[in-house]
Amino acid sequence: MTYDIVIRGGTLVTATGRFSADLAIEGERIAAIVTPGTPLDAVRVIDATGKHVIPGAIDVHSHHREPGYTHKEDIVSATSACAAGGVTTSFAMPNVQPPPNTVERLDAIIDLYNAKALVDWNINAAGTVPEEIPGLASRGIAAFKVFMVVDTGRDYPHMPGIGVHDHGKLLEIFETIEPTGVPLMVHPHDQALMGHIEEGFWARGERDALAYAKAYSAHDGIIWDTAAALLLRLQKATGTPLHLLHTQTTGVIEQLRTAKAAGQHVTAELNPWAVFLGNDWRNIERLGSYALSYYVPEKNTEPLWAALADGTIDLISTDHAPHTREEKEPGWTDGWKAHTGTPSTQFYVPMFLDAAVTGRLTLERTVDLLATAPAKAFGLANKGKLEVGADADIAIVDLDAELEITDAIVLSKIGHTPYAGKRVRGVVDTTIVRGRPVYENGGVTGTPGWGRQARPSR
Ligand code: DOR
Ligand code: ZN
Repeated sequence: MTYDIVIRGGTLVTATGRFSADLAIEGERIAAIVTPGTPLDAVRVIDATGKHVIPGAIDVHSHHREPGYTHKEDIVSATSACAAGGVTTSFAMPNVQPPPNTVERLDAIIDLYNAKALVDWNINAAGTVPEEIPGLASRGIAAFKVFMVVDTGRDYPHMPGIGVHDHGKLLEIFETIEPTGVPLMVHPHDQALMGHIEEGFWARGERDALAYAKAYSAHDGIIWDTAAALLLRLQKATGTPLHLLHTQTTGVIEQLRTAKAAGQHVTAELNPWAVFLGNDWRNIERLGSYALSYYVPEKNTEPLWAALADGTIDLISTDHAPHTREEKEPGWTDGWKAHTGTPSTQFYVPMFLDAAVTGRLTLERTVDLLATAPAKAFGLANKGKLEVGADADIAIVDLDAELEITDAIVLSKIGHTPYAGKRVRGVVDTTIVRGRPVYENGGVTGTPGWGRQARPSR
């Protein structure tokens, strides 16, 4: 038979090992993995000599901004950046307008993705309206998302309709989601404590980005730790699978260890900003709000890497959160006016490959964190692995080449990155989504509409 594509000469890396092999693709699936040099007919041969072949990254947490905030990003620009960054599946977050908290709204957004996405996708529906939860769950979503944050002093990124911090309402949401079997992602945040902390900063006249950074990390991350404690307790009470977002404190890491040891159904993620950006006060001083997502005090860095290595943190997702310069600039004088969040979808795979090259993590664990574990956590049975029969979602990467991250190469609509100037070892050469190259030779070759909903099998 003649295969559609054969990738020759590369080193395949999975969550459990690495080996030299040639990989054949037929249609949308991996059709054969064979000893290097085995004669195979192919329409197209990709030479991967000296390169590594890994499952494409699965990003379960990304802010694509469409509909409603397309001046920041849209489905085409976000998924183009995914293609260039080795990301073959990207889940969209619900802080768009109108938010997908009803079936009708979710269906309208699904139509947009069917027409526009270059890579595979899903949508994390807002689980804020209990009556809508069963209907939303029937639409092939892989997760619900609830923010515990409601912004003070601005109306984005945490606008009304997506945030719930009342404990009783949260319990009701956990109870309602449980029978659907769909995991619930929560952005942990203690609004009441934060209210008090903010008042203190403002009363002292501290309002700039540095004050904002300190407020969110006050008392060793108390707003994160108390919220996580509540969520883990609600998980225990209801049995609803919980996915904890934005892991960044040693306090949360310890709670995760205890909950997992007790057999609780919880997964946790780390976002790139927690170890490559917001964990260095010099970046906050240099970049102000452009470096915030959140300030993650330096003492958390080593425990976070250890938790990634030992499985306490299950997976890496981007929290890709593009905002324009106009939305970031006010932070120099008022950090509460600037929109919080940092972009990363195009560069996080290279940054974590660099962490593997420099020995922070093994290459296998890196692949696990980026692809295999997210697929497993969200029930994507055919994704996140290099196996015969699996979706041919693949990134071919060059670990000997260096990438210099610059604003000029940013595909995200905003055209800037807080990682500009950073040099990393690990360049994405080619990205393949279900058998079709969507990025190669330095350019995006995918087309809007190729991406398909990555439905979980439960
Ligand atoms: O930093 C953040 N940015 N945190 C969030 O919870 C939302 C996100 C965004 O949408 O920009
Ligand atoms: Zn987010």
